[in-house]
Amino acid sequence: MTFDRFFSSAALVMRESAIRRMGALGARIPDLISFAPGYPDPVLFPWDTLRVAAADLLSGADPAALQYGATRGYRPLIEALGTLLEARGIRSTFEERIVTSGSQQGLDLVARLLIDPGDVILVELPTYTGAISAFNNVRASLVGVPQEADGIDIDALDRTFERLRAEGRRVRFLYLVPNFQNPTGLLIGLDRRRRLLEWADRQDVVIVEDDPYGDLYFPDSAGPADTRPLKADDTSGRVIYLSSSSKTLAPGLRTAWVVAPEAVVQKLDLVKQAADICTGGLDQRLVHRAVTAGVLVTEGDRLRAHYQRKRTVMERALAREIGDLVTWPAPRGGFFLWVTLPAGLDADAVLTRALQASVSFVTGTAFFVDGSGQDTLRLSFSQPADDRIDEGIARLGRAIREEIDAQLAGGRSSADSGTSVPRG
Ligand SMILES: Cc1ncc(COP(=O)(O)O)c(C=O)c1O
Repeated sequence: MTFDRFFSSAALVMRESAIRRMGALGARIPDLISFAPGYPDPVLFPWDTLRVAAADLLSGADPAALQYGATRGYRPLIEALGTLLEARGIRSTFEERIVTSGSQQGLDLVARLLIDPGDVILVELPTYTGAISAFNNVRASLVGVPQEADGIDIDALDRTFERLRAEGRRVRFLYLVPNFQNPTGLLIGLDRRRRLLEWADRQDVVIVEDDPYGDLYFPDSAGPADTRPLKADDTSGRVIYLSSSSKTLAPGLRTAWVVAPEAVVQKLDLVKQAADICTGGLDQRLVHRAVTAGVLVTEGDRLRAHYQRKRTVMERALAREIGDLVTWPAPRGGFFLWVTLPAGLDADAVLTRALQASVSFVTGTAFFVDGSGQDTLRLSFSQPADDRIDEGIARLGRAIREEIDAQLAGGRSSADSGTSVPRG
């Protein structure tokens, strides 16, 4: 029996994330070097702290550790988050915070709470694929706004907003990843952050600020002041702020948080009740133990130095192998390098060749809501070891040169070969 006729209209248009699809594809390729997923480096997970905490929590002394918990989250964790957020400039009450099962769930809950089918969500061009999926799942209409070197183009944003308003469309919110954006690695400048808040106040728009990378600035080019969240200066309460323990502790703990006005958090609580009742109690307790043991403070410098070094390894390899062919904005933090190929070269065709050479990445189109970005790709330097980064970029360089040669020879580009390549 075919099930299609039973699916909702939203289910019929759901697409697998290009990043997840790359993971499945990569599992079948021997000796694959993957620059595709934005995974943290597991050597940085706080194994010792978590091992001790887990043994204690699983001793059975506190039955609540494995029991259902409050939907809003584990109270001591919500309290500890207050201090963590304050260090980033965000003052919030207990009632303004809620724990979610990853920021991905936060995005999903916010989407369910704010979006009616057909509502417009403004996003950066390009933007995070997980947000695109969450907003698409509730039938939002995503409209992209270009970015400049230090963030979203506010003039273009205003023009787009005015055009949509003139067309009678309802803009629900603006979604931003201001710190070391996934996928571009870009950082919104401080002045631009101020002007964005002014713009949002003037046009009465909600901002959804997604900030998993803010603590991961590279000391050689940025500092904590550069990553001050918009939420820290949100005097009117129009910013819904999301952050996560995934990139700084461990993503397997699926523990993140949303800070928003109390009325919004109350509604998020209701949406979350239907989604998963509560985030895993053991996960939350482990994150709480790690946070209160000061892991984020004691390990922060090590994390930043580690990812900064990997960024340098990848930039040097790119410069050495294909510096004459590709360009990228220098990341000042985060996990990603955003590469633009020579004009006319298609990233899908390069990916086909790259996979044959056992190296993978995510093609840029996955991150664009307007179908553009064919000549771009995202490389993640966070997980592979240094020597694998070197080797992987050498393989990628050969794949790019082969594709250029094939095009110059007038031969078939690998894009015409019929090989199945993931498309976002
Ligand atoms: C911008 C952005 N938002 C949200 C997420 C989801 O993170 P989490 O593991 O907290 O669900 C990611 C993960 O890569 C991300 O890059």
